[in-house]
Amino acid sequence: MTITTCIFDAYGTLFDVSAAAREAAGEPGNEALLNIWPKLAQDWRLKQLQYTWLRAVAGAHDDFWVVTQNGLDWAIENNGLGGNDTLRSRLLQLYWELSAYPEVPAMLAALKSAGLNTAILSNGSPAMLESAVKSAGISAVLDDTLSVESVGVFKPHRTVYDLVNQRFDTTSYQILFVSSNGWDAAGASGYGFHTVWVNRANEPVDRLPWVPQTILSDLTTIPELAKSL
Ligand code: LAC
Repeated sequence: MTITTCIFDAYGTLFDVSAAAREAAGEPGNEALLNIWPKLAQDWRLKQLQYTWLRAVAGAHDDFWVVTQNGLDWAIENNGLGGNDTLRSRLLQLYWELSAYPEVPAMLAALKSAGLNTAILSNGSPAMLESAVKSAGISAVLDDTLSVESVGVFKPHRTVYDLVNQRFDTTSYQILFVSSNGWDAAGASGYGFHTVWVNRANEPVDRLPWVPQTILSDLTTIPELAKSL
């Protein structure tokens, strides 16, 4: 077994980023969201990510909580919900307690039983990640949570991926890097990790200079894959 360490992206990979809008849509008083929550969630996510890339390229870093609020404000206005401050506050609150995908706890437990290191490497701020990990109940099956805040730039900057080998005293061929974000999986492949793209929505592969080595539809088989490499 070459792989010693499994590293996971957080938002969209372990935690379901659509859950905030979906849950808010089911709550009394938020009927305005009933039919549009998928579009709101998609706009929110896309703007949040675009702002991370633009800030990284421009050298204008601010933390992921700021970027998450900026993305939501654009999405709220684009979906005709401007001025609904109660809804804005509720959506932001839910982002601190996003559900993990159902297979996550058992998958991480299986990796730990097999003697592998497990960690998150995320754009999220340390406080956001701590809250999400705690609310998903997975702290006991993670060795660490690494945030880009320690280097002050967002993925896919190579400095972020450097954090993994620095933390675990590994070399890149020992790392299995797992992300549901095609661009993140591509960036990590370019860096030298063995990379899994979790493609839940059956999307086309990103046209970038690097491709993920493995494509899966969910996280269930990660422990078997890690042992087989
Ligand atoms: C993260 C974003 C990219 O967790 O999903 O880093």
